[in-house]
Amino acid sequence: MTVAVRSKISGLGRNVPDKVLSNADLEKMVDTSDEWIKTRTGISERRIADDGVTTSQLGIPAAREALRNAGIDPEELDLLLCATSTPENMFPSTGCAIGHGIEAGDCPSFDLLAACTGFIYAVSIADNFIRSGSANNVLIVASEIYSRIVNWKDRSTCVLFGDGAAAAVISRSDGSSGIIDSRIHSNGAYGDLLTTGGVASRRPVAGRAIEDAGYFLTMKGNQTFKVAVKRMTDVASKLLEKNGLSANDVDIVIPHQANIRIINAVGKSLGVPEEKVFVNVNKYGNTSAASIPIAMYEAVEEGRVKPGDLVLLVAFGGGLTWGATLIRW
Ligand code: COA
Repeated sequence: MTVAVRSKISGLGRNVPDKVLSNADLEKMVDTSDEWIKTRTGISERRIADDGVTTSQLGIPAAREALRNAGIDPEELDLLLCATSTPENMFPSTGCAIGHGIEAGDCPSFDLLAACTGFIYAVSIADNFIRSGSANNVLIVASEIYSRIVNWKDRSTCVLFGDGAAAAVISRSDGSSGIIDSRIHSNGAYGDLLTTGGVASRRPVAGRAIEDAGYFLTMKGNQTFKVAVKRMTDVASKLLEKNGLSANDVDIVIPHQANIRIINAVGKSLGVPEEKVFVNVNKYGNTSAASIPIAMYEAVEEGRVKPGDLVLLVAFGGGLTWGATLIRW
């Protein structure tokens, strides 16, 4: 089936903090074990941003690398979207700070808050801006500092998350490769499964009053797990079906890296063999909106994605939000 394609990923970038927090380090902080974390989540280590580093500062090197790889100057950007659920301020937006940092002039910018589905939401928006003729080049920067909003005394959540950033330039495509389609969803009825009252990662806070005020991230892990697997499988299946494709056509699935058991369960429900599912949750934990673009960057770097491949991105996050994107690479 020939599908009209109007936009493509023309460049990717990544920036993860140097500081590694291993499971052995966490054993010294909370009552947990390397074995428990690895068995239940597949995570061995995660990265942690240095004190004082802001969400925009983490995102800027990724943005610059993506622009370099795309061969696009910052002045050529028509839109900058920052996918983050840990913005450094409520306003000015982290996107505005990134735009200033990369010297994007008066390029419009805003923060997009769809938690771990943020990158897929941003790709869908960028693709639609380009298809409608409103933009030729859109920069997406997904940057997250969850270490500032997790409760480091709560072993059921603090072992799961990490910090990181990645960026993608989405450009007009005249060829046969590019973004085929996306589907995005949300349902606030499940809002209490995964929440944080915390804002402004630039000013992390601590103490009992803050805990009581609901600043920190909280999660109902078991329920989240079940809804995540069902929604991710559903949205990916419907997207494939709508575009006349099946799971057999998919060359690689790059799922949100929350938990190896969720990833494996989604792959199994879709009927995609394990070797076609990209995994790097072991190295970074859950970096929320940054997780898919970091994984995509590494899949390309490792030669796991080749020109002509059918790539399926699928994510799930607080909101609840979920979505999927199909790309002909
Ligand atoms: N170390 C050791 N023990 C821990 C622990 C930790 N870090 N965290 C929780 N436990 C304990 C619990 O207290 C519980 O003990 P109990 O049986 O004495 O009460 C036991 O382990 C089992 O807890 P449970 O929550 O049932 O474990 P689980 O098998 O559901 O795994 C998650 C917990 C969080 C790993 C799992 O529910 C999950 O992956 N959920 C989805 C999370 C996610 O990815 N969310 C983001 C989506 S974007």
